[in-house]
Amino acid sequence: MNELRALEPDFWRAPSAHNTQPWTLTYEDDRVTVGWDPDRALPVSDPTGRDLRLGLGAFVECCLIVCASAGLPVAFDADPGPLRVGHLRRAAQTYATPFATADVRARGANRGDYHPGRLPDELVAGLTGMRRVPCRDLADLLHAADLHQYGSPEVTRELRQWLRLTRRHRRYLLDGLSDRALRLTRLEAVALRASLALYPALRPLGLPRVLAGASRGLLDHDGDVLVLTGPAGDEVEQGRLLLRHWLTLSAAGYTTHPLSQIIDSPGTRRELAARLGVADPSSLLHIARVGRPRSPAPPSARLRG
Ligand SMILES: Cc1cc2nc3c(=O)[nH]c(=O)nc-3n(C[C@H](O)[C@H](O)[C@H](O)COP(=O)(O)O)c2cc1C
Repeated sequence: MNELRALEPDFWRAPSAHNTQPWTLTYEDDRVTVGWDPDRALPVSDPTGRDLRLGLGAFVECCLIVCASAGLPVAFDADPGPLRVGHLRRAAQTYATPFATADVRARGANRGDYHPGRLPDELVAGLTGMRRVPCRDLADLLHAADLHQYGSPEVTRELRQWLRLTRRHRRYLLDGLSDRALRLTRLEAVALRASLALYPALRPLGLPRVLAGASRGLLDHDGDVLVLTGPAGDEVEQGRLLLRHWLTLSAAGYTTHPLSQIIDSPGTRRELAARLGVADPSSLLHIARVGRPRSPAPPSARLRG
């Protein structure tokens, strides 16, 4: 299975929360184990490992697409165990997928401005498990979730570890969320760095409100939010589906801007479930605004490039 090594830079284009790229590949003669590095998990903001498993599922799907595109017949066997989700192995046929390596390379989160307009009904109808909500209907929940997120010193500290707000950061080209990916001006990046460094002192003075204010208005917009619903506990499979949906959207000219804080914060998660008529809030797996971006996003950093 050593032939897969040369494809790693494209496998690594898979998306992950905070761009931690938590996946690992361990090569043996007849199989490659897909695992994860606990130092790249997010124990505070993702205590149940939901986003970790979604990202690992997206990675598995990405590997299968890239192998198929290279003409390599490879399949995935789920085999959850300590620090692993399963194995890639040789198969009789190449993985059947409408996507190719070029699609994997073209996909990317876009946190910039979107053109107004809703997604076509027939596009949404093809996205199994996705529920569509008008952006404006969730503007209040986003603000409440941002206040909750930035009000927590632990969540904010963990986020800060993955922020790359200056090009002088030694990991700027490797992982995490850069000023460019977050669409911050140089001044905004400097201000965010300074305020996060002073967080303990500024928190009682209202810093969480100021930080949450930065995304105020993001959903006050004529557009759509998509919510992925599915059985909790099957997030690796759901992550594979999520990547396929993102590639479908990307091929149609749409990009996604995940807003996981809305389902990370218990209060807003319950409220979103109630608004969607979903009985079990833990079946809300992922949430993102989706639309036609006004400008392309810079490619995000990767450990393999
Ligand atoms: C499960 C999951 C959750 C995510 N949650 C967020 C989020 O809450 N906010 C955000 O801006 N991006 C979120 N992202 C997007 C990642 O930050 C993004 O995939 C990563 O930075 C790599 O960038 P790329 O998607 O442009 O390749 C999430 C991605 C995944 C897979």
